[in-house]
Amino acid sequence: MAVERSEPPYRLALPQPTESVEQDMEYCVLDTGDGWTEYRFHDYAELYKVPGLYERLFYDILQCQSPPVVCDLLAEQLAAERIDPAGIRVLDVGAGNGIVGEELRARGIGKVVGVDIIPEARDAAERDRPGIYADYHVIDLTALDGDRASAIASGGFDALTCVAALGFGDIPPEAFRAALDMVAVDGFVAITLRDDFLSDDDTSGFAGLIRSLLETGELEQLGSTVYRHRLATSRDPLLYRAVVARKRRPR
Ligand SMILES: C[S@@+](CC[C@H](N)C(=O)[O-])C[C@H]1O[C@@H](n2cnc3c(N)ncnc32)[C@H](O)[C@@H]1O
Repeated sequence: MAVERSEPPYRLALPQPTESVEQDMEYCVLDTGDGWTEYRFHDYAELYKVPGLYERLFYDILQCQSPPVVCDLLAEQLAAERIDPAGIRVLDVGAGNGIVGEELRARGIGKVVGVDIIPEARDAAERDRPGIYADYHVIDLTALDGDRASAIASGGFDALTCVAALGFGDIPPEAFRAALDMVAVDGFVAITLRDDFLSDDDTSGFAGLIRSLLETGELEQLGSTVYRHRLATSRDPLLYRAVVARKRRPR
């Protein structure tokens, strides 16, 4: 990994584990030399500006495992179907500072195109992992016109990844639908979602969308696994489901 993490030029602290907060309200405090400031975990633009902070917070301390889990599921499917990953072009949605892109390229994927809604994500990916993405677009998928979508998809992606970015005020169901439209028929979809977003009680809209995609045959589920996405700041495990599927022509 290109990011230097041995001596961070900041002090970072998390709330006491006894303080239980909803996942979309989680925060840390950071001192970069001017005193302690509170950052919500969803203040991605601010977190990405500090080199190495995202990795230290989510990977070193909170032990996030989503990128390798999802990328392994996709790579295993490609291997099972004897598809050479070098010929695959992946759309990585909610790409952030490029950890998923790096994991995909490490598994031999030929090309990865990143999409994120904030420019700070692209800046951080270029700063921390230059050359990982063949292209990186800062766009709002819910407001993308057809011409721009076709230009980015250029005939359709062979696969879509979306890791730790669906729901919670991040990527809404309509944006996921727009990303799926940029995948070619028979392309692969590898995503991760909080497990309860797929339950009958879900209010995020994802359970309904995924159910209808499965019912119409537009998605054919190939595999799925429930795993520990990361620790919450309470240090309790956050369980997510990773799903790999194939996009088919709807029946
Ligand atoms: C938790 S980060 C995950 C980043 C990366 N996938 C990873 O696993 O390290 C969520 C990312 O989704 C992006 N995001 C949030 N809403 C989005 C939207 N509507 N469209 C595209 N990206 C979005 C955020 O800017 C952020 O970079």
